[in-house]
Amino acid sequence: MVLEAIRYKPGSLHILNQLKLPHQEEYDEIRSAEDGWHAIKDMRTRGAPAIAIVAALSLAVELTNNNTSDKADEVAAFILEKLDYLVTSRPTAVNLADAAGKLKKIVETAAKANDSDGASVSKAYCDAAAQMLIADVADNQGIGKYGAEWISKAAGGGQVSVLTHCNTGSLATAGYGTALGVIRSLHANGSLKHAFCTETRPYNQGSRLTAFELVHDKIPATLVTDSMASALLRLKGPSERIAAIVVGADRVAANGDTANKIGTYQLAVTAKYHGVKFLVAAPRTTIDLKSKSGADIVIEERPGKEMTFLKGPRFDGVDLDLSQVETISIAAKGIDVWNPSFDVTPAELIDGIITEIGVFEKGANGSFDLTAALEAHN
Ligand code: MRU
Repeated sequence: MVLEAIRYKPGSLHILNQLKLPHQEEYDEIRSAEDGWHAIKDMRTRGAPAIAIVAALSLAVELTNNNTSDKADEVAAFILEKLDYLVTSRPTAVNLADAAGKLKKIVETAAKANDSDGASVSKAYCDAAAQMLIADVADNQGIGKYGAEWISKAAGGGQVSVLTHCNTGSLATAGYGTALGVIRSLHANGSLKHAFCTETRPYNQGSRLTAFELVHDKIPATLVTDSMASALLRLKGPSERIAAIVVGADRVAANGDTANKIGTYQLAVTAKYHGVKFLVAAPRTTIDLKSKSGADIVIEERPGKEMTFLKGPRFDGVDLDLSQVETISIAAKGIDVWNPSFDVTPAELIDGIITEIGVFEKGANGSFDLTAALEAHN
């Protein structure tokens, strides 16, 4: 079975409800931009590329199933307004704003065409949104290939062990994944000795989702808590010796500063201390040249209850009872909570940014210049 977070055909969109994983594989139907907004906000779908694609497709199904207007300018205005609304669902991952910007341009161009009408504008939008789903898988395969080559070369060949954080796999994208795509590529090449994934508190994307994908693909892997990373990097045994930490990104600033799941920054600090390579894997749509540095990135804060409560099926010591979901309090009632969903890793701690067109490294001056690097490929 192929892991599919997003199931789309014209007029129909279903998303795998990631709040129920790894215990239940349930797909929720998304019928409108409003449904899409809620699925993203509630984190039933999550991960920077998946958020962008689900948002775009949620509006595509709404347009396909409802005749908004016959007039091109009215349909265009409707789409632009819905895209602005979708962008408000979660602020940190830039892929959503990037997708919305590109889709707006396509819609504006379609509305200005000589023979345009409501249907042609709507079709231009839906075709472009569907193309984003297809393009993302190809981009991730490119990221996987370049990342695996870079890590193998840096390690001097042979099999390597790597550590990853959060979930960046098929569940966070249209398929294959970014950082987890690199692990998939290493495994496919026979170059992976062992993968380690962090639990990723507070929302456990690592233990619930990455572990689920690694088990699904039969990739040799071990789960650790976030607080075990430094101890893991100290191990020197043949399978534990970590060659690289590879993570995804929600927004990479022009200077390489990278916002990703909370806990990424401390992994980069410990990687530097232990002399382990630290890599960010992300499609070019995650690079935001408008953010000059990490100081320009808005970090989403999530409700404290994501830290103070856990939700899962009842366990009687032998079996999980999937029909009995319990919410358990794991913190003292009344305690104040700070729950930033992301942190910013300074570029100086990052060895390379793996994209679908290659791995960007720092220049002779010791800094990334992603503006120049992207221009060079245009
Ligand atoms: O809050 P989430 O689960 O959406 O956060 C996801 C991450 O931080 C991922 O590492 C990032 O979006 C890259 S996904 C390819």
